[in-house]
Amino acid sequence: MTDSLTVRDNRTGTEYDVPIVDGTIKAADLGKIRTDDETPGLAVYDPGFVNTASCRSAVTYIDGDKGILEYRGYPIEQLAEGSNFLEVAYLLVNGTLPTKEEYEAWVHEITYHTFVHENVKTFMEGFRYDAHPMGMLMASVGALSTFYPEAADIKDPENRHMQIIRLIAKMPTLGAWAFRHAQGKPFVYPDNDLSYTANFLSMLFKMSEQRYEPDERLVKALDVLFILHADHEQNCSTNAVRSVGSSQVDPYSAVAAGIGALYGPLHGGANEAVLRSLRRIGSKDNIPDFIKGVKDGNERLMGFGHRVYKNYDPRARIIKKAAEDVFEVTGTENPLLEIALELEKIALEDEYFVKRKLYPNVDFYSGLIYEAFQFPPEMFTVLFAIGRTPGWLAQWLELVQDPEQKIARPKQIYTGDRTLDFTPADKRWA
Ligand code: CMC
Repeated sequence: MTDSLTVRDNRTGTEYDVPIVDGTIKAADLGKIRTDDETPGLAVYDPGFVNTASCRSAVTYIDGDKGILEYRGYPIEQLAEGSNFLEVAYLLVNGTLPTKEEYEAWVHEITYHTFVHENVKTFMEGFRYDAHPMGMLMASVGALSTFYPEAADIKDPENRHMQIIRLIAKMPTLGAWAFRHAQGKPFVYPDNDLSYTANFLSMLFKMSEQRYEPDERLVKALDVLFILHADHEQNCSTNAVRSVGSSQVDPYSAVAAGIGALYGPLHGGANEAVLRSLRRIGSKDNIPDFIKGVKDGNERLMGFGHRVYKNYDPRARIIKKAAEDVFEVTGTENPLLEIALELEKIALEDEYFVKRKLYPNVDFYSGLIYEAFQFPPEMFTVLFAIGRTPGWLAQWLELVQDPEQKIARPKQIYTGDRTLDFTPADKRWA
């Protein structure tokens, strides 16, 4: 028996054999199903792409039912425990773990490219004092394409490599400067003697000291958070990067589109929304009322639920542990943590959430950690964007080398008027 689907079109009585490959059928094969030559072929209606594969990918594997996440085949738990963000970035972009020489060259290249053109500084200073750092990041990453016009040559592997290095290297600089701008503090230049993550903390928090020396445990915790966010297969922002990248635009413009997608509250903005909810709840006594509001459909429990995970998000488990480590260093007695733990406990037992398989996702605890670092909520998504950059780039690289990919151009079901007669304004308004 071959793997195929027999479809009978009851409109015409015709039967079609549609091959099944890798658990999918080709939507184009359904297009061959038509009532006559005049009418369009059968199409698939799938808003939000809930059951449509848009690509073949060897970057990230997720089993949402079992709560498994792997980058290039390596379980996220092992990478978070034993690797570091730049090694994971190498793995995602290049497909294999680096040798010692490859790792050192990779780290050297990224470190060497952390500085940005001075004009970037000037235009970042031009933002309003209260500009959201994600808006600043999106605009400045997009603007980088004007500094590196050669990036438009996406067919040249060496050129692609250069832009990938630049993007991973400059993202923390841009993110930290967006933060400093909001604080009215001078921008801090990269310190290339520090590690990737320590340098980021230095650009964020350094004041008059000669060298900013962050607590290594905090560096490790933030590095783990970057690893956890580094890729998540075809999520909204990655899909945006791929969709925009499919026009063969340069990677800065494609990644800027990804940052735009990540900005939204249903995606990367969720951890900011979690903190706002926790603050609004205010005390454990108010949790039942809040849960009732969620169940009545008045609002969502942010940080819960996932399109793919119908089990505990494996990243949430690691983050919960990182939160404990960070609180140990910062000594933060955060009353919101108590509310979050109680909320999680109640939600995990409540029939509404159990029935819908709504579990904590990566954003439920990450906001609390970021707050312990004294990041304002607007910065949370910027941290997500820095972590996600290697993933976006690995997916972009895969896209531009995949001969099966085409410019993204979905179909629509047209629901508007047809063949109306236009009357010019001077006659309509007479
Ligand atoms: N609180 C309450 N109810 C929820 C929630 C929630 N957080 N999430 C889903 N539901 C309900 C939803 O109302 C629906 O119920 P019903 O079947 O009665 O209409 C059912 O669960 C299925 O929800 P859905 O909206 O069809 O699911 P989706 O796969 O389209 O949405 C989601 C996934 C992440 C957008 C959604 O769960 C959500 O809005 N969560 C809160 C926002 C959030 O935490 N986002 C971060 C996601 S993880 C980070 C990332 O990867 O970006």
